[in-house]
Amino acid sequence: MQNPFASLGHVCAVIGAQWGDEGKGKVIDLLAERFDIVARACGGANAGHTIVVKGKKHVFHLLPSGALHSNTTVVIGSGLVLHLPTLLEEIRTLKDAGIDVLPRLFISEEAHILFDFHKDIDAALEEQRKVREGKGIGTTKRGIGPAYMDKAARSGTRMESLRGALTPVLARHAERVQRLYGVTVDQAKELKNLEEARALLAERITDTVGMLHERLQKDKKILIEGAQASLLDLDHGTYPYVTSSATTLAGALQGLGLPPQALTSCIGVAKAYCTRVGEGEFASEVTGQAGDRLRERGGEYGSTTGRPRRCGWLSIPDLRRSAMINGFTHWNITKLDVLDEEAEIPVCMGIASDGKAEWKKLPGWKTSTVGITAFAKLPKEAQEYLQFIEQETGVPAWLIGTGPGREQMIVR
Ligand code: IMP
Repeated sequence: MQNPFASLGHVCAVIGAQWGDEGKGKVIDLLAERFDIVARACGGANAGHTIVVKGKKHVFHLLPSGALHSNTTVVIGSGLVLHLPTLLEEIRTLKDAGIDVLPRLFISEEAHILFDFHKDIDAALEEQRKVREGKGIGTTKRGIGPAYMDKAARSGTRMESLRGALTPVLARHAERVQRLYGVTVDQAKELKNLEEARALLAERITDTVGMLHERLQKDKKILIEGAQASLLDLDHGTYPYVTSSATTLAGALQGLGLPPQALTSCIGVAKAYCTRVGEGEFASEVTGQAGDRLRERGGEYGSTTGRPRRCGWLSIPDLRRSAMINGFTHWNITKLDVLDEEAEIPVCMGIASDGKAEWKKLPGWKTSTVGITAFAKLPKEAQEYLQFIEQETGVPAWLIGTGPGREQMIVR
């Protein structure tokens, strides 16, 4: 049989096609050992992926999930906003589990530091939106928006600053943040965080752009681990209910300083249905029993915030748009088995002028697909469901998730 991974080539990006939580961690887990480098490009600790290390569950927010593979070089790119105590905790957690990521970790000197005060501003801005506009954005309260605001305003602090004097940096932020937002900065606590990070990470802060290009020259393989997802993109998502970074492939390349022609494949990850956390439009959302069924069968509770996720059916226009913007070459359709008990599966085919979804109903398969590893072994209706997605989006369903376990997937 032909190697199903050959089509990915040397530089592969994994990008969420919906509103996040599509299950990118599992495909990364499968692919990481086939690549030399796993790189995260954008976002911050708003991302969350659950990783089981030695039978114990850990939720990681900053380190890419590929960090677990002991031979992989791990890159944290320029586009990230880093909450340093969170990063240190994740490094320690892995170390306690016998995985020493530090010697193979490379952090961009251009990445921005996300301070505790950014979280306080995030909470204050959400509160103001609730009072003034009746509802907030439903952020993860991890300080993401305010950290990127500082970056865009050219008031941010980059990782390279850990090489210099820290007290004046904090004094400058304290004055500015008090004046602009009425938020008081705990300078002593922030200083302690920075000093602890400097002690552990100083050697690991580097020019990751130069390093990645050097490795490319040597034919090394890079796996780009996207964070959040296309419909949360600051430009192309459901603004203003989006995150504050560029979550698409273009944003990932920008966040790592890689040119488009370096890329050889882009895997779009989409659930066989759809979920969303936080506020914002979601035409294919279902409430009531069907929504509850998807939530319970899919375990749809946020890994960063624990919030119950809003659930709904697949939206073809959204998948098409994500495929178009990112240029997906492969689909990873996850959690197919969550639909196993549905007699009929509605799919959103368009949105009417009143904002309501226009549905097409596809037949369900009413039988378990859990653990199936060959496409031909899937019930006929499940095969047709996947073929329908392929026809409507023009992207092949290359990888299909049939359960939470590592082996529970179909690779075509
Ligand atoms: P922020 O990124 O914390 O500012 O949140 C903005 C919006 O993006 C909110 O609706 C969040 O729920 C959503 N969001 C941010 N990161 C993720 C993620 O990794 N998965 C799912 N939703 C996310």
